[in-house]
Amino acid sequence: MITLKNADQLAKMRSAGHLLYDILQSIREVIVAGESTAAVDAYAEERIRRHGAVPSFLGYQGYPKSICTSIDDEVVHGIPSDDVIITQGSILSVDCGLILDGWQADSAFTIAIGQVSPEKLELIRVTEECFFAGAKASFEGNRLGDIGHAVQQLAESHGFGVVRSLTGHGIGRNMHEDPSVPNYGQAGRGSRLKAGMTIAIEPMITLGDYRIVEMEDGWTIKTADGSACSHYEHTVAITPQGPELLTLPGYRFE
Ligand code: MF3
Ligand code: CO
Repeated sequence: MITLKNADQLAKMRSAGHLLYDILQSIREVIVAGESTAAVDAYAEERIRRHGAVPSFLGYQGYPKSICTSIDDEVVHGIPSDDVIITQGSILSVDCGLILDGWQADSAFTIAIGQVSPEKLELIRVTEECFFAGAKASFEGNRLGDIGHAVQQLAESHGFGVVRSLTGHGIGRNMHEDPSVPNYGQAGRGSRLKAGMTIAIEPMITLGDYRIVEMEDGWTIKTADGSACSHYEHTVAITPQGPELLTLPGYRFE
């Protein structure tokens, strides 16, 4: 069931989203070669709690940390660890969610650590562009397939793979609500988008094939072919004035 949010509820989601934006900005500064992913997680959790919010990932279906840290061929859900040291030449995806006053925000970005290959830089850039293409299609009257189509079209035009078995999602009081928001699809197909819908759009794009495998820790997802993957996510509200990026304050579409 898709739940539509009214103006008051949207205002609360905006507060949660803006707080998450601030926290992710500050997290970027502690991501340096030589640091462990557990240290980044500890920093994120402290920041979230200091602002009176709750880390939504921690304890979610037994997940042990407050952020996910996924490196190179890891697609998503990498678990921060003291044993995982951030190194030059890799790309690191950080995914984080929080709950403020009962309302959720969810956002992720991928960052290059020091000098990385041109291919990986291109992958990060195109993944962000894929998000914005999908977000731009997120207006009242359009359909879910228009979002997926926009993402897939752009990614595949660069020869990149679009992960299919993981998708974006509705979000609100719960981190994962209906509808599921695929990063592939056909224009004009799927449920109609309505004002008041809030969704997380989160393309996961690979340098190679789109197929993925789950690791034995029960969480970490990797590409099956070992190619690098980039992930970029924002929480988006569909409004009569167009899409509003709740986790990217002030963003205006052209
Ligand atoms: N943020 C992820 C998503 O976008 C979910 C993280 S799973 C968790 O849907 F277990 F880490 F919380
Ligand atoms: Co999400």
